[in-house]
Amino acid sequence: MKTYRLAMIPGDGIGVEVTGAAMQILEATAARHGFALAPQWFDWSCAHYIATGAMMPSDGIETLRGFDAIYLGAVGWPESVPDNVSLHGLLLPIRKAFDQYANIRPHRLLPGVEGPLRAQGFDILCIRENTEGEYSGAGGRVHQGRRNEVAVETAIFTRNGVERILRFAFDQARQRRGHVTSVTKSNAQKFSMVFWDEVTREVAADYPDVTVAHMHIDAMAARMVMAPESLDVVVASNLFGDILTDLGAAIQGGLGFAASANICPDGSGPSMFEPVHGSAPDIAGRGIANPIAAIWSAALMLDHLGVAEAARAILTAIEATTAKGIGTVPGRDATDKITAQIRAELETLP
Ligand code: NAD
Ligand code: IPM
Ligand code: MN
Repeated sequence: MKTYRLAMIPGDGIGVEVTGAAMQILEATAARHGFALAPQWFDWSCAHYIATGAMMPSDGIETLRGFDAIYLGAVGWPESVPDNVSLHGLLLPIRKAFDQYANIRPHRLLPGVEGPLRAQGFDILCIRENTEGEYSGAGGRVHQGRRNEVAVETAIFTRNGVERILRFAFDQARQRRGHVTSVTKSNAQKFSMVFWDEVTREVAADYPDVTVAHMHIDAMAARMVMAPESLDVVVASNLFGDILTDLGAAIQGGLGFAASANICPDGSGPSMFEPVHGSAPDIAGRGIANPIAAIWSAALMLDHLGVAEAARAILTAIEATTAKGIGTVPGRDATDKITAQIRAELETLP
C-alpha cells in the first residue's frame, strides 16, 4: 500500500481547528481508497515564536524537504507577533524555498450556497504567481522616523518567473474552457507590467488553441463581481492574485470556501496545500470556522499526490453536504457538524 508522508502545520487560530477537520477527512478517505498517510505534526506558529524566538527551527526548511506534501492551516496572531514577522518566518519562506511558484485557487459556488451575487454559474481558476513580484522582499527604509523618511518596496519580475507562470496558466486553460485572462496594471506600471504583457503575447503564440484577454486589475475587480461567469483561467502577479482570490472567496460565499494549492510544478520540492483564509482571530476558539476550504485544499493535495479518485470523492462529499444546507452560511454550523456530515457523505459513496 502506498504511504504518503505529510508535514502537517496547523499554525494559529482557526488554522488549528480546520486542519483537524481536514485530517479527519483525509484519514477517512485513505481508509476507503487503499492508501495510507504518515502525518508528522509541527507546532510551528506564533506560540512557537513566543516560546523559541522563531516561527520554525533553523533547519525547518530542510526538515520539510523530505515530505511528499505539506499541509498548512493558517499562520498569524497579530496581537502577539507582528504579521510581517510571522509570515516571513514561516509561510512565505516555504513557498519560496520549494519554488512553489504556481498558486492555484479555484472559485465556484458549491450547491446550496447562496453567494452575494446574482451570477451563479461561474467557475474561475485563479493562477497566482507565488514567488516573486511584489513579494520579493527587496527594498528598505532610510531616515526612519524623520520627516524625510523614504520606504521602498521593489517588485521584482524575472523573465523566467513571468514566463513559467503564464505557461502554467495556459496549460491549465487547455484542460478547461480554453480562455486565459492575464491581469496587470500596465497603464500605470510601465516597466514590470508592460513586460508581463509582452511575455503574455509571446507565450500565447505557443497556444493558438487558447484565447487570451488582457485586463487591468481595477477593471478585473469589477468584472469578478459583475460578470464572473465570463472568466475561465485568471493569471496574475503575487499581490494582484492575493487580492483577487479574497474577492474570489467572497463571491463563493465567504473565506470558508476558498481552497488553495502552492505547487512546485517540476517536483524539485514538496508542494503545500492550505485554505486561502487566515487564522481569523475574530472567530478562533469558538468552533464555528468553516472547514470546507481546508478540506477542499486537502482534496487538491490528494489530486496532486496522484490519488485523483479519492480527491473527487472528497469534493463529491463536500457538495452533498452543502446541497443539504449544511455549512452554507458563515458562522451558523459548527466546524464539527460540517466535518461529520462530509464524513458521513463519504461513507455513502461507492
Ligand atoms: P482572515 O482570512 O483570517 O479573516 C478574514 C475574515 O474572514 C474574518 O472575519 C474571519 O472570521 C473570516 N473567515 C476566515 N476564514 C473563515 C472560515 N474558515 N470560516 C468562517 N469565517 C472565516 O484574514 P485576516 O483577519 O486579515 O488575517 C488574520 C491573520 O491571518 C493575520 O495574522 C494574517 O496575516 C493571517 N493570514 C494568514 C494566511 C495564511 O496563513 N495563509 C492567510 C491570510 C491571512
Ligand atoms: C494568502 C495570504 C498570504 C499572502 C499572507 C498571509 C502573507 O494572504 O495566502 O493569501 O499574501 O500570500
Ligand atoms: Mn491572501
